[in-house]
Amino acid sequence: MKAVRIHQRGGSEGLVLEDAPDPRPATGDVVVRVHAAGFVPDELDWPGTWVDRAGRDRTPSIPAHDVAGVVTEVAYGTTGFAVGDRVFGLTDWHRDGAAAEYVAVEARNLARLPDSLTFTDAAALPLAGLTCRQALFVHGGLESGQTVVVHGGGGATGSLAVQMARDAGAHVIATGRGRAADVAIEMGAHTFVDLERQSFEDAVEPVDLIFDTIGGDLLARSAAKVKPGGALVSITAPPPVEPAGGRAVLFIVEPNRDQLAELAERAEAGRLRAHIGAVRPLAETREAFAAKQKGVPGKVVIEV
Ligand SMILES: NC(=O)c1ccc[n+]([C@@H]2O[C@H](COP(=O)([O-])OP(=O)(O)OC[C@H]3O[C@@H](n4cnc5c(N)ncnc54)[C@H](OP(=O)(O)O)[C@@H]3O)[C@@H](O)[C@H]2O)c1
Repeated sequence: MKAVRIHQRGGSEGLVLEDAPDPRPATGDVVVRVHAAGFVPDELDWPGTWVDRAGRDRTPSIPAHDVAGVVTEVAYGTTGFAVGDRVFGLTDWHRDGAAAEYVAVEARNLARLPDSLTFTDAAALPLAGLTCRQALFVHGGLESGQTVVVHGGGGATGSLAVQMARDAGAHVIATGRGRAADVAIEMGAHTFVDLERQSFEDAVEPVDLIFDTIGGDLLARSAAKVKPGGALVSITAPPPVEPAGGRAVLFIVEPNRDQLAELAERAEAGRLRAHIGAVRPLAETREAFAAKQKGVPGKVVIEV
């Protein structure tokens, strides 16, 4: 098959389109004919790109762990899917991803994709959508009537968090650079704090939950804006300061078939829409990574 692979560390310039062996499905896997794939720009720095779960070198590796496509093979021990099913999901970080014509994926990490959703839209949902679902409701305990701050509310992840929080009946304050304001408000934020023009400290009273997708100095400063009993949930780094009387959480998203099915339901009902900033063909995967690193807003999707 054709695949985009990386042979050694050094950034996205090392991504090359080349011939690669067809994936060999393990017990519990399906093989998916990839129609669209998604990625996060910094995944090439993550350990899972370079080693398997036993710590062994697994290069050359295929990036992009969001996948949407059609099942072409069902391996021994796999239940729940048949050849021809439309599926989407999140592939394991320590195995090859979806920047390829085919990928082998644990079936438990996939859900059925309704006919009304396109592969391209679906490929933007798994990683970012599962992250938001888990950040807001599993780790953040968000409830109707509460107030949540979403740092980076116009980004690939943050824009989904804004929609889910609003849908749950929360009051939503999004933050980010000024250029993200329109997207965040369109996605459902009640207010937007332009961090280039306003001080976060001056603009926001203490809230029930802060979901931070930006990190750095802002993460450290955010603890002071969490109410007692509230939570500061980060996906970039451990919060260096605990909120007084509240919780500080760093987590890594986990695949979850039921939650994927819920994302599909929300999208089908028009309650969830990915913010896709660019779509590139497989042959331009390197350029897709570079474009995202240079600041294309939202998710960049690779069509295969
Ligand atoms: N732990 C996990 O499981 C997990 C899961 C998913 C993602 N992540 C991580 O979460 C981060 C966000 O991912 P993403 O895909 O949502 O990225 P993204 O699409 O680039 O979103 C980040 C948003 O934050 C904004 N932003 C970044 N730095 C800022 C700053 N200094 N001031 C104001 N706004 C700023 C960006 O604005 P601009 O576009 O203007 O820069 C963008 O709107 C990445 O580091 C990713 O690796 C972790």
